Amino acid sequence: MAATPEAQPTPADQAREAAVEAALARLDLDAKARLLSGQDMWTLPALPEIGLDSLVMSDGPIGVRGVRWSADDPSVALPSPTALAATWDPDLAHRAGTLLAQEARRKGVHVLLAPTVNLHRSPLGGRHFEAYSEDPRLTGRIGTGYVRGVQSGGVATTVKHFVANDAETDRFTVNNLVGERALRELYLAPFEAIVTDAHPWGIMTAYNSVNGPTMTAHHHLVNEVLRGEWGFDGFNVSDWMAARDTVADLTGGLDVAMPGPKTVYGAPLARAVREGAVPEAAVDTAVRNVLRLAARVGILKGAEPAVTDLPAPVDGEALAREIARRSFVLLRNEAPDGAEALPLKPGGTVALLGAAARDARILGGGSATVFPARTVSPLDGLTAALPDGTLTYAVGADPTTEMGAAGPGFDLRVECRAADGELLGGGPVPGGHLQWMGSDLPDGVTHDRLHTVELTGTFTPRESGPHLLGIRGMGAFTLTVGGTTHFDGDQRSEAADPFDAFFGAPVPRAEVTLTAGEPVEVSLTHLVSLPQDVPMKVITFALTHQAPRRDPDALIAEAVEAARAADTAVVVVATTDRVESEGFDRTDLALPGRQDDLVRAVAAANPRTVVVVNAGSPVELPWRDEVAAILLTWFPGQEGGAALADVLTGAQEPGGRLPTTWGTLADAPVTQVTPVAGALSYTEGVFIGYRAWERAGRTPAYPFGHGLGYTTWAYESIEVHGTEVTVRVRNTGDRPGRETVQLYLAPTGPGPERPARTLAAFAQVEAEPGECAEAVLELPRRAFEIWDETADSWSFVKGSYEIQAGRSITDRAITATTTV
Ligand code: BGC
Repeated sequence: MAATPEAQPTPADQAREAAVEAALARLDLDAKARLLSGQDMWTLPALPEIGLDSLVMSDGPIGVRGVRWSADDPSVALPSPTALAATWDPDLAHRAGTLLAQEARRKGVHVLLAPTVNLHRSPLGGRHFEAYSEDPRLTGRIGTGYVRGVQSGGVATTVKHFVANDAETDRFTVNNLVGERALRELYLAPFEAIVTDAHPWGIMTAYNSVNGPTMTAHHHLVNEVLRGEWGFDGFNVSDWMAARDTVADLTGGLDVAMPGPKTVYGAPLARAVREGAVPEAAVDTAVRNVLRLAARVGILKGAEPAVTDLPAPVDGEALAREIARRSFVLLRNEAPDGAEALPLKPGGTVALLGAAARDARILGGGSATVFPARTVSPLDGLTAALPDGTLTYAVGADPTTEMGAAGPGFDLRVECRAADGELLGGGPVPGGHLQWMGSDLPDGVTHDRLHTVELTGTFTPRESGPHLLGIRGMGAFTLTVGGTTHFDGDQRSEAADPFDAFFGAPVPRAEVTLTAGEPVEVSLTHLVSLPQDVPMKVITFALTHQAPRRDPDALIAEAVEAARAADTAVVVVATTDRVESEGFDRTDLALPGRQDDLVRAVAAANPRTVVVVNAGSPVELPWRDEVAAILLTWFPGQEGGAALADVLTGAQEPGGRLPTTWGTLADAPVTQVTPVAGALSYTEGVFIGYRAWERAGRTPAYPFGHGLGYTTWAYESIEVHGTEVTVRVRNTGDRPGRETVQLYLAPTGPGPERPARTLAAFAQVEAEPGECAEAVLELPRRAFEIWDETADSWSFVKGSYEIQAGRSITDRAITATTTV
């Protein structure tokens, strides 16, 4: 069985350790304590006396936002993490990481706050789109590729959120009760794989508690398991505002408390040492971890950075497009006439339908948000790819059931003023959402002088009729449209989670009747009043807007007409940022608004209806047997529309396979995300995802691993030699293709209770029409092990197994047996 590789310290590592020790020896207690806490939202203090620059951290995971939460310094936006996992390609994840390191270096960022490797335990998890999969092995391999890629560019990662942060409800306070076996076999497993295979330079501990202690103070899981058993030698940073207890956190293995300046480390930590509550040696351990990180990323004078040879530059737009098309999962492709609906026949006419076809949803909400320089919507992509006169567009149905941040048609700038009206700074902003954290303010603006922030400019509507304008955020606001003040007062929120307040429901404040194409002046002024003692100074609010609501039946009728007149109808359905975001969980899996009605009506009018599902995580597809094709495009990143055109026209094959089972909420075996009396019990043990669907004997809409391409494959042979499995597949179609060969291991003999089968290995091969390709896969020892709770160790389960190779967990084409 394949053993885990051990990392031996190189001479360069040893030299860095020596530099770290020398720097540590020159710091006094106060400087050490200061280094362990944020000086602001994203950085640690510089310590010039030891030649240490300020360490800069930034989210993560699909782009590098940089230290400003604004669009004035754009970032390449890659597809959502669920999409990256759907490529089933650790090498592609590695390339994504290389690009992100390049972006980080461009923005002066040393630590990327990513990847998110929590598991898809419940489809209701609001942040599902930001994690990879329901399967720990797939998650671990994608995460390993990603971390290696980022770090090959000399930039650190923080694998997060350690551990069991699998849902958002009450995430600051929830105590997740997880059995040791489930912890080891599922939730810790990706972290373990990444730590042992990719040696990340950082880890982020989660808000939640696990079996009692909070994760920032979890001596057992951090000091004993992560560092002790797995040999992690990186730094451990708290999730933002997760550190709550000076002594418990430090002794629980937390190195850095973020953000600052208000912190439980810094001065309170120095005091705790002086009072004898914390040994100074524990502070030294944490400082050593931070200095090692600083040395690795090249900001500690005298220490050679871990990477001196940077990888070749990456074209971000091209890579975003490649990952997108390689992630798209073709769930179904059967037109009623027997021919496949995709790729589109050249020269045919296309009716493109759906609000998200025009205003694409390219990313999920929350801290993963970045601001790309451009986004290619499906309408943009298809307009560029199809011959003139062959494409029509209709909205059909709008998934947005409430106002969103001001977008298309708004031309806005921000003006920051002092109390006496002096203009301190500002500039153009691309949308209606402002978010400034800590010192992240426009040039020339400081918190002590800032009195008002005004979003001002014009709005040129696309549609005539009554438009709603409103405000998302808390505090005092004045909203003026066309010279009339519609609101002048205070807005408050009851939400406990700050993210809910930032991204929560906007309040309508003005209804104005406007004419398409005629600009009107708008202004939203916020009177800043931040209490002195807040842990971080955050200014966040949005000018929100909703276009006139047309009669939903008329919209659908218009789309049906367009569909009837075209050879193919392409309907883009989507979730919204009120459905999928950090900060809250979902309440159902239905597509919002009248989108299901739209699909049904269009499918009834045109048998060649292709549905494009623009969502980061599972949605119900109740019409799935009534349409010709379904293509899942996730949140496809900035180049999503271009990649969509590549795939629809057949220039490229869709390459994705489901990293997570897609089914209805009613059938999903594990759904619970709401704690009871502060605790969320993972009562299902090791049975989540496909493990649970199989145990329950339920058939999901689309199984784990499923995804079609544009060619067909025959599985011809499987041979097992020890732990090496060779699978031969033949491309039986008429175009070149890429196949993801999946290997499942199914125990067939007696033994402890185990899932019917688990993903043991996977590999990708390419072949020309008629050609054969060989995938050589290694069965990892861990696939044969379970965690023995009595012995508190891994236990190798001897006996007989089937090794099943195929295209998904239910399409197991070919089988071999082995006895171990
Ligand atoms: C998120 C982290 C993120 C951090 C900084 C937290 O709310 O949970 O994933 O890295 O904010 O933005």
